[in-house]
Amino acid sequence: MKKIAILTSGGDAPGMNASIRACVRRALNFGLEVYGVERGYEGLVHNEIFKMDTHSVCDIIQRGGTILKSARCLEFKKPETRKIAADNLKKLGIEGLVVIGGDGSFTGAKLLSDEHGINIVGIPGTIDNDLAYTDYTLGFDTAVNTALWAINALRDTMTSHDRVSIIKVMGRHCGDIALYSGICGGAEFILVPEVPYDIQEVAAAIKQNAERGKMSNIIVFAEGAGNENELKTVLQVIAHSDVKVTTIGHIQRGGAPSMADRMLAARFGARAIDVLLAGLTNRVVGIKGNEVFDMDLTEALSMKKVFRKDLYDIASTLC
Ligand code: ADP
Ligand code: F6P
Repeated sequence: MKKIAILTSGGDAPGMNASIRACVRRALNFGLEVYGVERGYEGLVHNEIFKMDTHSVCDIIQRGGTILKSARCLEFKKPETRKIAADNLKKLGIEGLVVIGGDGSFTGAKLLSDEHGINIVGIPGTIDNDLAYTDYTLGFDTAVNTALWAINALRDTMTSHDRVSIIKVMGRHCGDIALYSGICGGAEFILVPEVPYDIQEVAAAIKQNAERGKMSNIIVFAEGAGNENELKTVLQVIAHSDVKVTTIGHIQRGGAPSMADRMLAARFGARAIDVLLAGLTNRVVGIKGNEVFDMDLTEALSMKKVFRKDLYDIASTLC
């Protein structure tokens, strides 16, 4: 293995830049030639591949987003498109590819490896924390801290006006951002796709809170948990609450990565390069119990994410 490339794919996540930096510096220090691919698989197909040196990754460790840019490339699901991408890598003599992204990006990477013999390794980069095989994905910690900042600010104003606050957070089908930010923000209710809930029961509980003088409640509402406006209407009718809905949105995807995400980026990046140097392919890196590991990509993707119901149950006893 002499030449490798790096790309970021799917939704960006804070810490992607720090992991690009880690990959580039480690690879250069071990004598590899390094290339960056712009705009994920889209750029791979359109040959947007450039040589990187140590200066290419100066001053990015603290920046959110990704200097390589990211994209969603539906064409990559077609075998003929992947052939074009593989040919572009082969023309430059690139044998190894680091893919920083989520499960969709990993699926594309596996096909590139199986069909065209490119050695690939995946670094889990998504704010959603929706990959079963790893405790944490890159960007999750920062996104939760951003959500927490918003919850704190909303709590100030909502308490002053005796209001109920529904705070919608990201996560696609995964409730982890809601769970972690809800617990750490002291939310009265955390609504996630993994745990069924009854709107009428939530309204009854909020009504009961009001009757004992607690007018202000924080409800952290996961993106995949249903319709926040329907909940608002029911709360207004049943509990007579003054309800405000706030969607934090893409703010969660940006910003300087936290210490935890920068550390993950450094450790994941270093491990990914070691995997390629060992001549392995179809691997992903992850973390369990603060130990970084790598494992087979197919096996990793076949695992089913287990929701931390134990944490969810703790939350309901703390308010
Ligand atoms: P994430 O990687 O965060 O899960 P997406 O699911 O949007 O994000 O996937 C990112 C990109 O990975 C897609 O735009 C596409 O280029 C590629 N991809 C996703 N699924 C597949 C698939 N089944 N086959 C080939 N490429 C895929
Ligand atoms: O996967 C990350 C994520 O931010 C999800 O939480 C969200 O559902 C989605 O991406 C938003 O995607 P887009 O940036 O394309 O709107």
